[in-house]
Amino acid sequence: MPTIFFGSDHAGYLMKNIVIDVLDNEEDIDIKDLGCFNLDKCNYPEFAFRVAKKVRETPNSFGVLLCGTGIGMSIAANKVKGIRCALCSNFTQVQMSRKHNDANILALGARNTTSDTLVPLIISFINTEFDGGRHQIRVNMIDNMD
Ligand code: RB5
Repeated sequence: MPTIFFGSDHAGYLMKNIVIDVLDNEEDIDIKDLGCFNLDKCNYPEFAFRVAKKVRETPNSFGVLLCGTGIGMSIAANKVKGIRCALCSNFTQVQMSRKHNDANILALGARNTTSDTLVPLIISFINTEFDGGRHQIRVNMIDNMD
């Protein structure tokens, strides 16, 4: 059973709660919520780094990060060595981020969308395998950058 570390800022907080609730009831996933834990304004890099470091050190784990657009979260998470965070808004992006890029964190925009859209994307992310092969060479190049 994979562990999924969740993080959000205030803009993603309510959506994070809804999505965790649905996944907790419907899927066989070990869910860890690393915050934020209320609607007070906060800084998304704090939660991006928290989730990214946990994903890096935990075998068989993924991360899901939610902010208003998903952009800030993805920029911040990708600063952490070993993290490949993909900002996705549709199934093609989600599946390719796993198959070709071995993405280990999914960033999502929480504003102007619904949990009905985001939950299936998260499930697809978790269930899609990395293709390996020639893609492994490219992923290694990214991981060896610094
Ligand atoms: C917060 O207002 C907003 O800037 C943040 O959630 C995110 O969208 C940043 O990329």
